[in-house]
Amino acid sequence: MAINTLEEKMVHGLGDIYDAEHQFLEMMQEALPQANSDTVKSLLQQHIAETEQQISTLKQVFEALGKKAKRVSCQGAAGIVAENQKTLKQVSKKPALADLAIAGGSSKVEHYEIACYRSLITGAQQMGQNQIALLLQQNLQQEEQTAQKIEQSTPTLFQKAMAQAASA
Ligand SMILES: [Fe+2]
Repeated sequence: MAINTLEEKMVHGLGDIYDAEHQFLEMMQEALPQANSDTVKSLLQQHIAETEQQISTLKQVFEALGKKAKRVSCQGAAGIVAENQKTLKQVSKKPALADLAIAGGSSKVEHYEIACYRSLITGAQQMGQNQIALLLQQNLQQEEQTAQKIEQSTPTLFQKAMAQAASA
């Protein structure tokens, strides 16, 4: 379907991230039983709850635009999810590597989401849609905090993997 106006472009972008959030939510729920370290488990649990909240925030954004929330199939998210699932399968016999794969995969997810939200927020601000910009900021902030937590916990996950390899 052709996109001819800025508003249509924004609604398309919102549908895209709305779909991406659903895909990532499912991906995290699937990854949770495969997480071994308490850090990775709690990161996933916390972000699963946040993502559910982000989905409702996106519904509010659609409402503010007088639209019904609608998913637009997001190929970018599908690609990241497929890649993460494949890697996780490949490391499934090595717990420390599985934790690293989940952390690395989640970091890719967060940065994809950050890019989507930043661009949507700039658009909303430029179009004078301040209420929408504020709602999207809430989601952006959670993604940024999650990305930071993952990055902070990654060195320890590497050390665990190295220790595990040394004792094998
Ligand atoms: Fe996220």
